[in-house]
Amino acid sequence: MQERGATPPAGVAARVEELRRQLHYHNYRYYVLDDPVVSDAEYDRLLRELEALEAGYPDLVTPDSPTRRVGAAPLDKFESVTHRLPMLSLENAFSDTEVREFDDRLRRFLRTTDEFDYVVEPKMDGVAVELVYEEGRLVVGSTRGDGVRGENVTQNLKTLRTVPLALLADPVPPPALLEVRGEVYIELEPFKKLNQERLARGEPAFANPRNAAAGSLRQLDPAVTAARPLKIYCYGVGEVAGAAFTSHEQTLEALKQWGFPINPLIQRCRGIEAAVAYHRDLERQRHGLPYEIDGVVIKVDSLDLQSRLGAKSRSPRWALAYKFAATQATTQVLKIEVNVGRTGAVTPMALMAPVEVGGVVVSRATLHNEDEVARKDVREGDWVLVQRAGDVIPEVVKVITERRTGAEKPFSMPGRCPVCDTPLVRPAGEAVTRCPNRHCLGQLKRSIRHFAGKTAMDIDGLGEKIVNLLVDKGLVQNVADLYRLREDDLLPLERFAEKSAANIIRAIQGSKRTPLDRFIFALGIRYVGEATARLLAQHFHTLEALAQATEEDLLQVEGVGPQVAASLREYFQNPRHQELLAYLMQAGLALESPPPPPQTALAGKTFVFTGALSRFSREEAKSLVTARGGKVSSSVSAKTDFVVVGADPGSKFARARELGVTVLDEEQFAEMIRRSG
Ligand code: IVH
Repeated sequence: MQERGATPPAGVAARVEELRRQLHYHNYRYYVLDDPVVSDAEYDRLLRELEALEAGYPDLVTPDSPTRRVGAAPLDKFESVTHRLPMLSLENAFSDTEVREFDDRLRRFLRTTDEFDYVVEPKMDGVAVELVYEEGRLVVGSTRGDGVRGENVTQNLKTLRTVPLALLADPVPPPALLEVRGEVYIELEPFKKLNQERLARGEPAFANPRNAAAGSLRQLDPAVTAARPLKIYCYGVGEVAGAAFTSHEQTLEALKQWGFPINPLIQRCRGIEAAVAYHRDLERQRHGLPYEIDGVVIKVDSLDLQSRLGAKSRSPRWALAYKFAATQATTQVLKIEVNVGRTGAVTPMALMAPVEVGGVVVSRATLHNEDEVARKDVREGDWVLVQRAGDVIPEVVKVITERRTGAEKPFSMPGRCPVCDTPLVRPAGEAVTRCPNRHCLGQLKRSIRHFAGKTAMDIDGLGEKIVNLLVDKGLVQNVADLYRLREDDLLPLERFAEKSAANIIRAIQGSKRTPLDRFIFALGIRYVGEATARLLAQHFHTLEALAQATEEDLLQVEGVGPQVAASLREYFQNPRHQELLAYLMQAGLALESPPPPPQTALAGKTFVFTGALSRFSREEAKSLVTARGGKVSSSVSAKTDFVVVGADPGSKFARARELGVTVLDEEQFAEMIRRSG
């Protein structure tokens, strides 16, 4: 064997390159197309030749070599990866009517009467990932995470034989940068086998193929992932530099040629009725497929239309997930208990005999509130029909009254909080019963869990049991106390070994650096969900600016109405919350402002629209402004930069003139948009 660094004789580097090219191609023929053009023995011979050359000349080894699929060392933890373009999710529809409404909505938005071409795809029930290729070589693979940031699972994704390590360059070479998105999944047969093996080894079985895929992809040791039967289908792209497509279908076609596995069931449909028919057909075929799907995804084919339609905060306007009907099952209600939420809302929950609903075992279902329990007349001991649609919390559809024996026990809302014993209140005209005690430990526990949650501060390991323990032992009286915890505080508690104590402290400390929007959401301010938190962060940039914003300032944020504005004011004016925030900042929280909006001439400018536009729908006009870094507000104030006036303008026009705000007609607005590119 040569020494490390020995210069390879002429021709060796070229031979290594050639072997890799051939092996990538044969891998593709075998695993992706299931149509090999060489025998297994021939493939092995090429692979062994490459292995020998790489062993002799280690300098020639590259990370995308077919010999490097497995064998990477285990990691301590996953690094986080920021997606160049956010990985959005999809809006759901559950009926033909909702799908037709979607189609109508697009037509209104684009002001057209034409039929659209759609591409319809099976909605794979797996885990979304992104693969980044530079100059045709896989450089990073990541999970979707919260859509903005995911985990770097490159070593694990490389173990999937259907993930190309280097792209095919014939007939068209791949672009300089190519981000490909797809779904990692496990087929049903291999899933069953995997579970049997696990049970035989005394390990717990996975509840469904999706959980198995997610668990397998998040292994710190790539050798474990390599042993799991993971596959991938790709369905779209993120950023692409050096190639231009005009349609989604063409994009998928190009991906196929570069070696990515694309689901052969994907079809182009002319008009929405064809897409509805595809859904119906696929729902019938569904159980004959080797993998699980939970619906179809309907996408506008034209990329030009896609970009005109743009996106809402979480999902693109040009796509829709049309889910299959919810799955249902019957089971028995063992007990009805009430839970105290973080805002003090007291929710009745049915605890049921565990039952499998659409591949997931459920044992709890929400009963929403007192009136709902009465309306459905759910009693302890009842047999009930439960359903689960997508990811939502299972719910009780109805009681199977035929199975009543007379021994069932009707539910009545307790008069006192099950946690702190304070008398509960239910304001007249409201459906929700609340615990009015601001110091209720039930509320505190829930607000800490919300704070630590995956979509909030994302503190790994702070689950229900640990949070309860920390609160019950008096170690944590508010979320800021989390940051003051030390390993020594945890070690005396049962269930804490040195390692787990250290892990939790590390996770808590690691959450200090966090994007502003997640922090705003984590505070659990009433009516402020993830999307609103993001709008607020984008608008105000710092927590101080948000905390000091007046109601009028808040109403300037498109998407913030009077209810949200009032709730925010109430929150930030409350001395208890001011103290909490000061306490958190003292603990060393470092909030990251969102990236600055695109620098165009419209950046930071505020627009108000009034009257009917003829060329654009109101929604498109708004999205044209926000895509250029501008803001759209619903009311004219001295801070408004432009008022765009269409036909029959309302009082906003008069107000604009009163305040001397620049007024544009539709033509001038269109010109401004054109020039700011
Ligand atoms: S497109 C912007 N296509 O569904 C478009 N998603 O609810 C976003 N999924 O996170 C995704 N099959 O994990 C798309 N053919 C398909 C899909 C698909 C499964 C998943 C994906 C995504 C989720 C959105």
